[in-house]
Amino acid sequence: MSEHSNDFVGFLRSSAPYIHAHRGRTFVIVFGGEAMASRGIRTLVHDVALLMSLGIRVVLVAGARPQIDERLALRGLEPRFEGGLRVTDEAAMACAKEASGTNRVELEALFSTALPNSPMAGARVRVATGNYLTAKPVGVIDGLDFKYTGRVRRVDHEAIRRHLEAGQLVLLTPIGYSATGEAFNLSTPEVASAAAVALGADKLICLVEGKGLVDRGGAVRGELSIAEAERLLSSQKKGIAAIGRDLQAAVDAVRGGVRRAHIIPRRIEGGILRELFTRDGVGTLISAERFEGMREARLSDVPSILELIEPLAESGQLVRRPKEMLEEHVDRFTVLERDGMIVACVAVYPYPQKKTAEIACVAVHPNYRSSGRAGELVEYAERRAREQGMTSVFVLTTQAEHFFRERGYEPSSEKHLPSGKKVDPKRNSKVFVKRF
Ligand SMILES: CC(C)(COP(=O)(O)OP(=O)(O)OC[C@H]1O[C@@H](n2cnc3c(N)ncnc32)[C@H](O)[C@@H]1OP(=O)(O)O)[C@@H](O)C(=O)NCCC(=O)NCCS
Repeated sequence: MSEHSNDFVGFLRSSAPYIHAHRGRTFVIVFGGEAMASRGIRTLVHDVALLMSLGIRVVLVAGARPQIDERLALRGLEPRFEGGLRVTDEAAMACAKEASGTNRVELEALFSTALPNSPMAGARVRVATGNYLTAKPVGVIDGLDFKYTGRVRRVDHEAIRRHLEAGQLVLLTPIGYSATGEAFNLSTPEVASAAAVALGADKLICLVEGKGLVDRGGAVRGELSIAEAERLLSSQKKGIAAIGRDLQAAVDAVRGGVRRAHIIPRRIEGGILRELFTRDGVGTLISAERFEGMREARLSDVPSILELIEPLAESGQLVRRPKEMLEEHVDRFTVLERDGMIVACVAVYPYPQKKTAEIACVAVHPNYRSSGRAGELVEYAERRAREQGMTSVFVLTTQAEHFFRERGYEPSSEKHLPSGKKVDPKRNSKVFVKRF
C-alpha cells in the first residue's frame, strides 16, 4: 500500500480510535527464545518501537529456551524437563545466564538501531533492565530437586513503573534473584503474567509459536472466555500443549485483574499491530471475568429476561415482549449471567437478504449499569452479526440515542429498514445504523 493510495489513508483513519484507546496503556508482551533466533525479531522490534511512539508503555519479556538447550548441547548435555518445567542444575543455570544475557544484549542492540530510511529512524528507544524479579526455588517435587528452577516471588512494579513513566521500554528476562543472592531460572510466561498482574497492566500479549489457538476447521479462535480457556487447559487436547504455558499465563493474568490477554501466532507478519489496530484482529482474545457470564440464552432464562425487561418496557424504553414471543425468539438472545442471575441481555435479529441485522432489547439491570456491560454486549452482538455475513446492524431506540451514537451508529430513517420492519408510530423510535 503506497502512501498515495486511498487504502493507506483509510487504514490510518480507521486505526485512529485504537491509537487513542491504547495511548498511555501498559502492555506486557512476551515471546519465546524462538523469536530471538528468527529473522522476524527485527520486525518485532520495529513494531514494539512503533507502539512506544504511539504512547503505549511496553514491558517486553524475552524467553531463552532454545538458546539454553543449544548451550547445553555444546557442553554435551541433555536438557531435562519434568511437567513442562526445566530441571535447572548448575550447568543448566550457567547456560540460562549466558542465554538471557546474550538475548538482552542483542535486543538492546536492535533497539539502538537508528539508521535513516529504516523503520527505527528517530525511534530512540531506551531499554531498562535490572533485578526487578525476586525468585524463590521451586524446591523438591515428588523427590526431584529442581535446583535452580525458580518461581516468581515478587515483581518490583514500582521500579518498573518509574521506567515506563519515563518513556522507557522495560525488558525482563526469565532470571530472578533470591534474598540469598542467588539467581534462578524462571518460566517466561509466568514472569509475563506475574509482571502484568503486579503492574495492573491493561493487556498481556503472548506471541506464540505455531498456529495459536485454532478451532476444528483450523481458523484462529477470535475470543475465549476464561472458563473455556480453563476447560481447554484441563482437557489436555492435542494442539493445546504447544501453547499451554502461554494460555495458562493468559488465564492467570486475567484472573489477576488484567482486563485482556491476547494469544497471537508470532509468525503472522505484523501480528501485534493487526491485533491492536484493526477491528477483527488476528489472535485470540481472552477477556476478563465478565465475559465468563456471557452466553446464549436458553428457554429456562425467559422468566429472568422478562423480569429484567418488563420495567423498561413499562417506562417506554424497550418494546414490550410477551413471554410467548421471548420463548419463540430465545435463540436470538445473549445474556450476561452473574451469580446465577441474568443482569443484562441483547438480541440480534438477522435480515440476511439485506445483509443487515437488528440489535434489539439491549438492557442492563439498573444495579449493574455504567460499567461497560451494555457496550460489551453490543460489541459482541455486532461481532455475531458480522460473523453471520452482515454488512451493517441497526437499532430502533427511543431513549438511548446517544449511547448508540457514541458507539459509531449513525442516524438513519425508516426507509432504510429491511422490508417487513417498521417503526411503531406509537413509539416513534429513531433508527440508527452502523456499517462494517
Ligand atoms: C442503555 C443501557 C443498556 C446502558 O447500559 P450500561 O451497562 O450502563 O452501559 P455501559 O456501561 O456499557 O455504558 C455506559 C455509558 O453509556 C451512557 N449511557 C447509558 N445509557 C444511556 C442513554 N440512555 N443515553 C445515552 N447514554 C447512555 C452512560 O452515561 C455511560 O457513559 P459515561 O460513562 O461516559 O457516562 C442501560 O441504561 C439500559 O438498560 N437502559 C434501558 C434500556 C434501553 O434503553 N436500551 C436501549 C434500547 S435498545
